[in-house]
Amino acid sequence: MQPSWSSQASRMRGSRQTFLNFFCILWLPLLLKAASSSPLPHGNDPPPPSLPSGLYKGHTCVGCVLVVSVIEQLAQWHNSTVKAAMERLCNYIPEKLQGFCYVLAELYGPHIAELIDREMNADVVCHSLKLCKQDPGQPLCHLYPPPKVGLSTAIRKAKRIIKTSKDLKSFMGFSSLCAFPLLANLCEKIKYVIRNKLPFEDFDGDKFSTFPTLRGYHWRGRDCNDKNTTVYPGRRPDNWDVKSDSNCNGIWGVDPKDGLPYEEKFCKGADSQGVVLLGDSAGAHFHIPPEWMTVTQMSAKSFANLPMAFTDELDWPQFSEITGFLNSTIGGWTDSLYLRLRRRNRCNHRDLQNISQNGGSSGNLLYLIKSLARNQLLDNPAIVIYATIGNDVCNGNRDTLAHMTTPKEMLSNVVQALRYLDSRLPNGSHVILTGLVDGRFLWDNLHDRYHPLGQLNRDVTYSQLYSFLDCLQVSPCSGWLTPNETLRNLTSERALQLSNVLKEIARSEKFANFDIFYMDFPLRQTAEEWRKMGGEPWQLIEPVDGFHPSQIAAALGTSITWQKALHEWPQVLGKENPFNDQIEAIFKDQGGH
Ligand SMILES: *[C@@H]1O[C@H](CO)[C@@H](O)[C@H](O)[C@H]1NC(C)=O
Ligand SMILES: *[C@@H]1O[C@H](CO)[C@@H](O)[C@H](O)[C@H]1NC(C)=O
Ligand SMILES: *[C@@H]1O[C@H](CO)[C@@H](O)[C@H](O)[C@H]1NC(C)=O
Ligand SMILES: *[C@@H]1O[C@H](CO)[C@@H](O)[C@H](O)[C@H]1NC(C)=O
Ligand SMILES: *[C@@H]1O[C@H](CO)[C@@H](O)[C@H](O)[C@H]1NC(C)=O
Ligand SMILES: *[C@@H]1O[C@H](CO)[C@@H](O)[C@H](O)[C@H]1NC(C)=O
Ligand SMILES: *[C@@H]1O[C@H](CO)[C@@H](O)[C@H](O)[C@H]1NC(C)=O
Repeated sequence: MQPSWSSQASRMRGSRQTFLNFFCILWLPLLLKAASSSPLPHGNDPPPPSLPSGLYKGHTCVGCVLVVSVIEQLAQWHNSTVKAAMERLCNYIPEKLQGFCYVLAELYGPHIAELIDREMNADVVCHSLKLCKQDPGQPLCHLYPPPKVGLSTAIRKAKRIIKTSKDLKSFMGFSSLCAFPLLANLCEKIKYVIRNKLPFEDFDGDKFSTFPTLRGYHWRGRDCNDKNTTVYPGRRPDNWDVKSDSNCNGIWGVDPKDGLPYEEKFCKGADSQGVVLLGDSAGAHFHIPPEWMTVTQMSAKSFANLPMAFTDELDWPQFSEITGFLNSTIGGWTDSLYLRLRRRNRCNHRDLQNISQNGGSSGNLLYLIKSLARNQLLDNPAIVIYATIGNDVCNGNRDTLAHMTTPKEMLSNVVQALRYLDSRLPNGSHVILTGLVDGRFLWDNLHDRYHPLGQLNRDVTYSQLYSFLDCLQVSPCSGWLTPNETLRNLTSERALQLSNVLKEIARSEKFANFDIFYMDFPLRQTAEEWRKMGGEPWQLIEPVDGFHPSQIAAALGTSITWQKALHEWPQVLGKENPFNDQIEAIFKDQGGH
C-alpha cells in the first residue's frame, strides 16, 4: 500500500470506525444514491461537488440498519442461527465479493449475532455499534418501532454487552484489509474519493479510470472512434461517409450497384437529429432491486446482477426512457424517446446525449450543461428534453421550504440555461421543458404500505422509512415524504409555481436556434393508463427508495410524451425515413448498442 493511505486512514475518525463502515460497503453506494438526491450544491455557480460529512454519517446508518435487518430476517425465515444467516448471505453474493463478505462476517458477526440473539433490533444494533449516531439536540433515529423498554435503554444495554465482548479488540487494521487482492482496488478508490473530496456517489467501479476527465465520464460509450475527435454521433457526415462512419450511425460506404454513398441515399434530407436529456435522477433511472432485501425470496439468483449493477452505479440506462435499448430485466418493459426516434429514422442511430445526474436541479444544471457537445456548424439539430422534475423543491434539510428554488431563481436559471443552449445548438433544434411532478402521489400511494424490509414481519411501512431518512437528514425529499400534509401541500404549491415559470418561458421567450415547448410531467395520464392496464398506482414507484419512478412509469411516460409530440408538435419529431427497411437490411442493427 502506498504510504499516503495510512495517513489518510488516520485522518479519518479512528480506523475502527472506518473499518466498521466497510461492513456496509456492499450496500453503501446504493444507499448513497438512494438517499441523496442532492449531492450537488444548490445555486448558480456550483463549486466542485462535495459531500457534507453529516450525509455520510446518515448513509452509514441506513446501510447498517439495512444489512443487519437482512441478516436478522434471514435467520428468522430459515430458523437458523445468526451466524448461519450471515454465511448464507455471503453465499448468495457473487464470488467476486464473497471473500470480503466472509472477512466482515468473521469480524463483526459475533457482536451482531450476540445482540440479535438477545432480540435487539437492527436500530439498536447499529446505534450500539456507533454506526448510527445521535446528534446533540436531535432525536434518536430509528426504522423499526422502538423496543418495549425504550430505544435508549435498549441501546445502553446493548453497548454494555458489546463492551464485555473481547472479540472487538481483535481488530484488524484498515491497511491490512487493503492487502486482500479483492479489497485493494476498493481501498484505492476510497482513497481517491477522499483525497479529491469527491461526492461518494462517484465511489464506483469502472468509471473511475476516466473520472477526472468529466468528458470521459459523461460521454462514456458515445464515440465510435475514441482516437479521432472528428468522429462522433450527431455530426453531419464527412463526404457522405464514403470511407468510414464519421457520425457513428452505422451507415457508410458506397452502394456497388450505383456507386452512390449509402449515407447520401438513405439520410440526405431525412431531418436527422439527436436526443439530449438534461435532467435529474429520474432520467438517470435509478433502481435498487428489491430482491436484495426480501429474504423470503432470496437466493444466489437475487444477487447475480450485483457486480453489473455496481459497475453502472445502480442506474439502468440500458432500460431508461431516453437512452434505453435493451429489454428490461427489472420488471416493466423498455421504451425510450431515443428508441422511438431511431425507429422513425434509423439515420439517428446512436445520436443521444445524456446530461442527467442525480440531484440535477435548475441551478446545478447550469454547471452540468457545459458538458453538452454539439457543434453549431457541423452537427445535426437536437431535441433537448429539460426535465428537472423534483430537485428544485426536494432536499433533505430540516428547513426544507427555505431551501427550495424560488420562482424568481427558476426563471433566471432556466433562461440562462436556454441562452447557453442557443449558443450551442445547431439551428432547427427543439427544446421541450417538462414541468415538475406533484410528489404528493408518493405519500398518498405508499405511506401505509409495507416496505420490502417490512414485509416479513409487517413492521416497516414507507411512512416509517421516510421518517427514518428524514431524521437522519438524508431524505431525498423532506417536503413530500412526510406525514405533515400542510408541508406536502406547500411543496406541491411551490412545484406548481415553478412549472408555471417554465410554461411562461415556453410561451413568451424566443430563441434563434430552437423552438420551445412545455408539457406537464405526465403523471396523471401515466397513472390513468396504468390503471386501464389493470395496474396499481404504487407499482409506478421504485419499491426500495419509495421515491423514484419505476421502470413501468418510465416506459409509460415515454409513450405519453411521444403521443403528445406526435399530435401537437409533429415538426419536433421529424419525418419518417422511407429507407429504414433498406438500412436495416444492409446494416443490420448498425452496431454500438
Ligand atoms: C427452529 O429450530 C429449533 C432448533 O433447531 C427448533 O427447536 C424449533 O422448533 C424450530 N422452530 C421452527 C418454527 O421451526
Ligand atoms: C478522422 O476522421 C475524419 C472524418 O471521418 C477523417 O477525415 C480523418 O482522416 C480521420 N483522421 C484520422 C487521423 O484518422
Ligand atoms: C445519464 O448519465 C448519468 C451520469 O453519467 C448516468 O448515471 C445515467 O444513468 C444516465 N441516464 C440515462 C438516461 O442514460
Ligand atoms: C425484446 O423483446 C421482444 C419481444 O418480447 C423481442 O422481439 C426483441 O427481440 C427483444 N429485444 C432484445 C434486444 O432482446
Ligand atoms: C434558422 O433557420 C430558420 C429556418 O430554417 C431561419 O429562418 C433562421 O433565420 C435561422 N436562424 C439562424 C440564426 O440562422
Ligand atoms: C392539502 O391539499 C388538498 C388538495 O388541494 C386539500 O384537500 C387539503 O385540505 C389540503 N390540506 C391541508 C392540510 O392544507
Ligand atoms: C407542518 O409543516 C408546516 C410547514 O412547514 C409547519 O408550519 C407545521 O408546524 C408542521 N406541522 C407539524 C404538526 O409538524
